[in-house]
Amino acid sequence: MKPVRVALLGCGTVGEGVVKLMRRNAALLERKLGVPLELAGVADRSLRPSAALGLTAKLITRDAAALVVRPDVDIVVELFGGREPARALILKALAAGKDVVTANKALLAEHGEQIFAAAAKAGMAIGFEASVGGGVPIIRTLREALAGDRQRAVYGIVNGTCNSILTMMTEQGAEFSQALAEAQRMGLAEANPALDIEGHDAAHKLCLLVTLAFGALLKPPQVHTEGISHITQADIAYARELGFTIKLLAIAKDDDGAIEARVHPTMIPTRHLLAGVAGAFNAIYIHGEALGSTMYFGLGAGQMPTATAVMADVLEIARARSAGAGARGHALGYPMASMTRARVKPMDDVLCEYYLRFEARDKPGVLGAIASVLGRGGISIASVIQQGRGMEGTVPVIMRTHEARERNLKRALARIRRLDTVSGTPAFIRIEERL
Ligand code: HSE
Repeated sequence: MKPVRVALLGCGTVGEGVVKLMRRNAALLERKLGVPLELAGVADRSLRPSAALGLTAKLITRDAAALVVRPDVDIVVELFGGREPARALILKALAAGKDVVTANKALLAEHGEQIFAAAAKAGMAIGFEASVGGGVPIIRTLREALAGDRQRAVYGIVNGTCNSILTMMTEQGAEFSQALAEAQRMGLAEANPALDIEGHDAAHKLCLLVTLAFGALLKPPQVHTEGISHITQADIAYARELGFTIKLLAIAKDDDGAIEARVHPTMIPTRHLLAGVAGAFNAIYIHGEALGSTMYFGLGAGQMPTATAVMADVLEIARARSAGAGARGHALGYPMASMTRARVKPMDDVLCEYYLRFEARDKPGVLGAIASVLGRGGISIASVIQQGRGMEGTVPVIMRTHEARERNLKRALARIRRLDTVSGTPAFIRIEERL
């Protein structure tokens, strides 16, 4: 009955959740594993002993580097976040024969190749269920449940902060800045809100989803990333009129080996399941060639949902350890040797339908001039909305295009911007209608 022993690096929100689950469910976990699961130590600079959490002074240390190589530690759970010392500690733990569990999506997106290769070389496991979708078990699903199929497309609502802001803008008519302040008040946004609202957090998660779904390594700079700060209440209202809802989507498609990887505000049909995913919830919608579409839904952040995902990895590894299993499975669902580097389709080559919004002078021929630039650029208009009169004699003109190449659209918008009958910068939002 040799126990499996866990070292925790970082006891913030999620770490505390892990300690609570290990304590609260100790008997249940032992029943599931056949051996006890024990906390060997917690490295955290500001942690105080807590009777409620069962954290004695003896369990707490400031020396994470010493903790991760201690002979009585089997599994290292890294919840420091950030790049360093998290990266160095994970590599040290793997080299010392420890299995590792981490929720660190930014680190894995940027340095995944090094970390996964180090785990494979050491024959150790690296679990990262908590890194994408919080409590939604999407890593395991892609790696195991869907392993027999070829994935064609992944559409994720993977940033709860952006989803909460867009939900507030849609349901309460709030403007972006009001909704952001509210999301921050609710404690949803990351310490640096730019990571969330500029789409970088979603891009980190998309890198991991692409690697699991398509067996191809992808780094954040390869993901076309746009945030939601430019979305206005007018866009939300016109989207509604067109039958769409705006979501920040992390999108990956495999177009016969050329991978589309993009994060941007997207108009999707309001009747689609993803459009109903509100507030801090996350959802990942996957299209598999054989299976068709499936969706995975749940809380993408928060103490106990994320801690549950961490514990899923701890348990899987503890089971393997207690069964005496030797080398671990492939963390990404592919051996590193058969992993490719993603060949990313340039954004200019992507085909999309578009929503366009112009502020135009209200005089004869303006609509015709805009339409003519679009027509010359090979962009076909599907519908037009022009209503009311705006300030200073301008009117908003809304157009929806048929499918067009991004390169052509950008060129046409640059030309339209130069028309003296159009003021400001034309706004556009990509539409995904057939997801
Ligand atoms: N900041 C993230 C979000 C949660 O808003 O979804 C952690 O991944």
